[in-house]
Amino acid sequence: MLKKEIAMSEQFSALREQALAKLKATSTLTDLEQWRVAYLGKKGQLSLTLRSIGQLPKDERPQAGQAANVLKKLLEEAYASRQEVLKADDLARTISQEALDVTLPGHPATQGRLHLTTRTLREIYGIFAQMGFQVVRSREVESDLYNFQLLNIPPHHPARDMWSTFHTTREGVVLRTHTSPGQIHTMRRFCPEPIRVILPGRAYRFEQVTARAEFMFYNIEGLAIGRHITLADLKGTLVNFARRMFGPERELRFRANYFPFTEPSAEADMDCIICGGKGCRICKYTGWVEILGSGMVHPKVLANGGYDPEVFSGFAFGMGLERIAMLKHRIDDIRYFYSNDLRFLNQFS
Ligand code: PHE
Repeated sequence: MLKKEIAMSEQFSALREQALAKLKATSTLTDLEQWRVAYLGKKGQLSLTLRSIGQLPKDERPQAGQAANVLKKLLEEAYASRQEVLKADDLARTISQEALDVTLPGHPATQGRLHLTTRTLREIYGIFAQMGFQVVRSREVESDLYNFQLLNIPPHHPARDMWSTFHTTREGVVLRTHTSPGQIHTMRRFCPEPIRVILPGRAYRFEQVTARAEFMFYNIEGLAIGRHITLADLKGTLVNFARRMFGPERELRFRANYFPFTEPSAEADMDCIICGGKGCRICKYTGWVEILGSGMVHPKVLANGGYDPEVFSGFAFGMGLERIAMLKHRIDDIRYFYSNDLRFLNQFS
């Protein structure tokens, strides 16, 4: 053998010994990867050695090349079998360390529930649906025209004082103070068909928040239009509602009142469900609680909706949803509804 060849083959065997020893010392797949890069990688030991073959005299190169290939194959095989061993170790470790203890107590799944407002709304929809009323919605941001003027409340009319209004920065645009503008929208949509709808939704009043009043609350408006609708229909519908909602023994009392968009107008009081009419704090010792405003649709309002007041008549009513829910569940402060206190909300499921 020539001197250089001897040197080369010594280099190969030294590399082999070193590589195999280091391989044996690897204990994780990360170690193994480092080893692969160091010995079999593009810039690894083996590549460096192979490159040095190019500097050998021509006739010596084939033999050296062959020896290098043998070494390469040997190292690759050694790598593959080490990899298998380490993978198996790794799996065993994962299984033992990450074993599930199925006897540990779990986390209880939290369950959402419908808000009291939603529940009450749905209950009321159900009652009116049985009387043939469908639900129609209209916008919360309303024009002065619909919120007031078309409801027979002209600009600067003193009746406007009945509704403290949130005005917007846009002239003539307000947050609706009641759901009554929905009456006009509905009439204009359905005219000349008869109408039997309820109009639920938020209403806004620029008022001090107290136990009895919020600046945002839900209204349920009712509207019926037809050729032969009378005050008796209004009373019958509302008494029916009160009895289905609060129990068959309930009584309603109608008190004459004023609303610009109904004539005649009446507020309805229900006998107090808390004390049964004997008198308590809730009914202010009168035995009656006010639950809604109502009346026969004013001829001007019928005309604004497109109906001929000589031919058509109708009734309308509006009630505060929270007031209904408060009576039903004996809640003494309206502020509980929208202050997001789970201790309150969780009671209704
Ligand atoms: N919109 C009235 C209010 O806000 C209630 C009402 C509705 C009265 C329909 C009569 C008819 O108080």
